[in-house]
Amino acid sequence: MRPIIKENFSILFNENGYLELADFILKKNYQNILFLTDANTEKYCLKSFKKSICNINSKVYKIIDSNSFYYSLPHGESSKNINESIKVWDFLIQNGFKRNSLIINLGGGMVTDIGGFISSTFMRGIDFVNVPTTLLGMVDASIGGKTGIDFKNLKNIIGKFEFAKIILIDDSFLETLNDQQIISGFAEMIKHALIDSPNHWNTIREIKSLKNISKDMIYNSILTKVKIIEKDPTEKDIRKYLNYGHTLGHAIESYLLGTKRELLHGEAISVGIILESYLSCLRCKFDINKVNQIKSFVMKFYKKIDFAATDIEMVIKLLKYDKKNINDNALFVLIRNIGDPTTNNEVNIEEIKEAFRFYQD
Ligand SMILES: NC(=O)c1ccc[n+]([C@@H]2O[C@H](COP(=O)([O-])OP(=O)(O)OC[C@H]3O[C@@H](n4cnc5c(N)ncnc54)[C@H](O)[C@@H]3O)[C@@H](O)[C@H]2O)c1
Repeated sequence: MRPIIKENFSILFNENGYLELADFILKKNYQNILFLTDANTEKYCLKSFKKSICNINSKVYKIIDSNSFYYSLPHGESSKNINESIKVWDFLIQNGFKRNSLIINLGGGMVTDIGGFISSTFMRGIDFVNVPTTLLGMVDASIGGKTGIDFKNLKNIIGKFEFAKIILIDDSFLETLNDQQIISGFAEMIKHALIDSPNHWNTIREIKSLKNISKDMIYNSILTKVKIIEKDPTEKDIRKYLNYGHTLGHAIESYLLGTKRELLHGEAISVGIILESYLSCLRCKFDINKVNQIKSFVMKFYKKIDFAATDIEMVIKLLKYDKKNINDNALFVLIRNIGDPTTNNEVNIEEIKEAFRFYQD
């Protein structure tokens, strides 16, 4: 897989990626390196990552052996918060981290989001590298410079844009990931296909089992995101396309966060994709047959979530906190057709309720 080299960041793949990353670390001559993991990535990924990078040459081995520090967060979304950030900032200060230090975020979206946030705010910003270890991390969270934490049950409400210098994709990390996490990441691949092109969607639609996600599919999904963020890195315009399925998806995820019914990010987004495909039909004349096709494809992989009328009311209330809103109106990315998204579509409450009825049917 060819590396994707852009002005602000590079996405590197597998063996060659390790070579390039080792070169980068040598050239930058970092004073300290922090490996930020969570409990699972410390257990399943750290050893193999270190082995792959240290085997490149003895100089890198020496740097990593003598200048490295390790910090492991408790795993799970509930760690993506200000208290954990404070503990890591404290750790960096205690261990003499300065501007010429590097943080390697080795983990899923939780680790790369909070790790990017910690790096980009520590001493007004130090370099960081993302090494995603989940499918969702590889095709989405580790790419594109959105860093952040959750606050008061609101997802990603505190954060900033800052690009990782390098994103290294090593799909062998997926071997220890459980099926539920693969399903979660797959939702972003579905979204990318729907906003990208009918061809991309048709390739995704061929998948019968999530064991068959190929390197090429991962690569295409990454390319879709890159094509968009390079044109609009700070979400002034077309980057909003990436929020397809996310306006309601995020509100659902926030609403259920910390409850017994808490959903994985991708599970919430899968509901959002169905709801917003239906809204696309109501608002943008998106073909209802395609909406049904999307619904039945998504439902093959995702369990149905029950929403009582009060749940729906609460989700609608949460829409007002959506960061993409202007004034108080919830604005949606909708699609006129597959591969033809449009931004800033106002949708009224009755239409949202109708979309939930379509989902529940
Ligand atoms: N910044 C962005 O642009 C962006 C985009 C999408 C999602 N996100 C964020 O990403 C987060 C979700 O990411 P996620 O789904 O990767 O969740 P996650 O990072 O919490 O990882 C999911 C679980 O898998 C475990 N895990 C990770 N890698 C593993 C491996 N290789 N083997 C075994 N277990 C492993 C983790 O410990 C965790 O328990 C959310 O916080 C979401 O807001 C950010």
